[in-house]
Amino acid sequence: MTTQYEKPVIQKLRSGLMNKFAGGTPMHRKVKTDIAGVAIDDLVSQFGSPLFVYSEQTLRRKFRAIRNAFATRYSDVTFGWSYKTNYLKAICAILHQEGAMAELVSKMEYDKAKALSVPGNQIILNGPYKPMATLETAVGDGVTINIDHHDEIEDLEAIATRLGQTIPVGIRLNLDAGIQPCWSRFGFNLESGQAMDAIRRIASSGKLRVKGLHSHIGTFIMEPAAYSRQVEKMVTFGYEIEQACGWRMDYIDIGGGFPSRSRLKGSYHAADVMLPSIDEYADAICDALWATLKPGHTPKLIIESGRAVIDEAGTLITSVCGTKRLPDGTRAYVMDAGVNLLFTSFWYRFDIALDRPISGPCEPSVIYGPLCMNIDAVDEGISLPSLSRGTRLVISTVGAYNNTQWLQFIEYRPNVVLVAETGDVELIREAEDLSDLERREHLPERLKV
Ligand SMILES: Cc1ncc(COP(=O)(O)O)c(C=O)c1O
Repeated sequence: MTTQYEKPVIQKLRSGLMNKFAGGTPMHRKVKTDIAGVAIDDLVSQFGSPLFVYSEQTLRRKFRAIRNAFATRYSDVTFGWSYKTNYLKAICAILHQEGAMAELVSKMEYDKAKALSVPGNQIILNGPYKPMATLETAVGDGVTINIDHHDEIEDLEAIATRLGQTIPVGIRLNLDAGIQPCWSRFGFNLESGQAMDAIRRIASSGKLRVKGLHSHIGTFIMEPAAYSRQVEKMVTFGYEIEQACGWRMDYIDIGGGFPSRSRLKGSYHAADVMLPSIDEYADAICDALWATLKPGHTPKLIIESGRAVIDEAGTLITSVCGTKRLPDGTRAYVMDAGVNLLFTSFWYRFDIALDRPISGPCEPSVIYGPLCMNIDAVDEGISLPSLSRGTRLVISTVGAYNNTQWLQFIEYRPNVVLVAETGDVELIREAEDLSDLERREHLPERLKV
């Protein structure tokens, strides 16, 4: 057996950090040579680096697991796919195939859903800004509209007057479900009486009829009991509306917020240790529903889960382009992907694997992106063996909020591929070039050379 030469390194010892000299074991990085069965070498040689890779199998499996957790506890449950979490066409199409409605918060997202031929009765329109023209189209399309504020009530009443018909609507609530921070900027506040005032205001004009309630208590909610409190408050308020106006609620939309199996910055434990299972969320929500609903009344339960559905299905491959040592001795790497592609790096500590086994001691390292910006650091405290140029890092879970919040800043955005259930690799978003950047720009004649 031949042994490989390992370059000796002098390493500064940091007290408190485990290292092989201080009695701990050297940390070996996880190695990942394929994604959904496709070799990373093949993916990169065909589609380049950096590269976003989605697994259709993981996405469908995840969606079905969440759906089944609820469908086995409460029969009338529907999912609304939160477009803002990931509105790549292929991702939305898969989730619509699985039966999810489209949950939209802007005209742009509405345009995307229409381009995918999603029918109006499969669309939920939320969001704080719904332009008049979008509201008019939504009313015509029979969309489920959840009202955010008073001006929207007025806009919808004006549309109802013009059409000479009563428009069914939902209203969005903000409420105290016992978690911090308590989101209060969307919808009407429940506890202060603002929401009931809005209901009375709607009832007095007689142009709209409230048929549903919506609230989204936050994101990455790690406490299932918060949802019990939310559901109890929503259902109870629904019956108060019924008593005051005679309207029985057809749906209770509890928004999203379930965590994905990612690790938040600052949390020491891995997600599997920290996070409740989806069954615990389903128990909390469905038990609260059964405990609060009147016999014979089973409104539709709508769930708009985003990150919990898609995060794990997305992976980013990025390559080491340069290596350096910082003045304090820390090892640093320049990668071809940074915060421009990984918006969630501001709050996630990613799971980072190597594309090949690398021996040798690990040392504290920093992973920088390609931007000439100081903030472009994907991980500032990772323990890595010595990586040479060309080594690839396989970063997960990155399916949520990155392909919507990525920046066209300094660098072009790269290819995105989908590994189909058959194992075929399909390009679902092509890498950008100069034409994408400049398509909307106009250079005045006088400035041309
Ligand atoms: C109204 C609404 N529904 C659903 C979601 C999806 O949330 P999450 O990804 O936390 O499940 C959001 C995200 O902010 C939202 O604003």
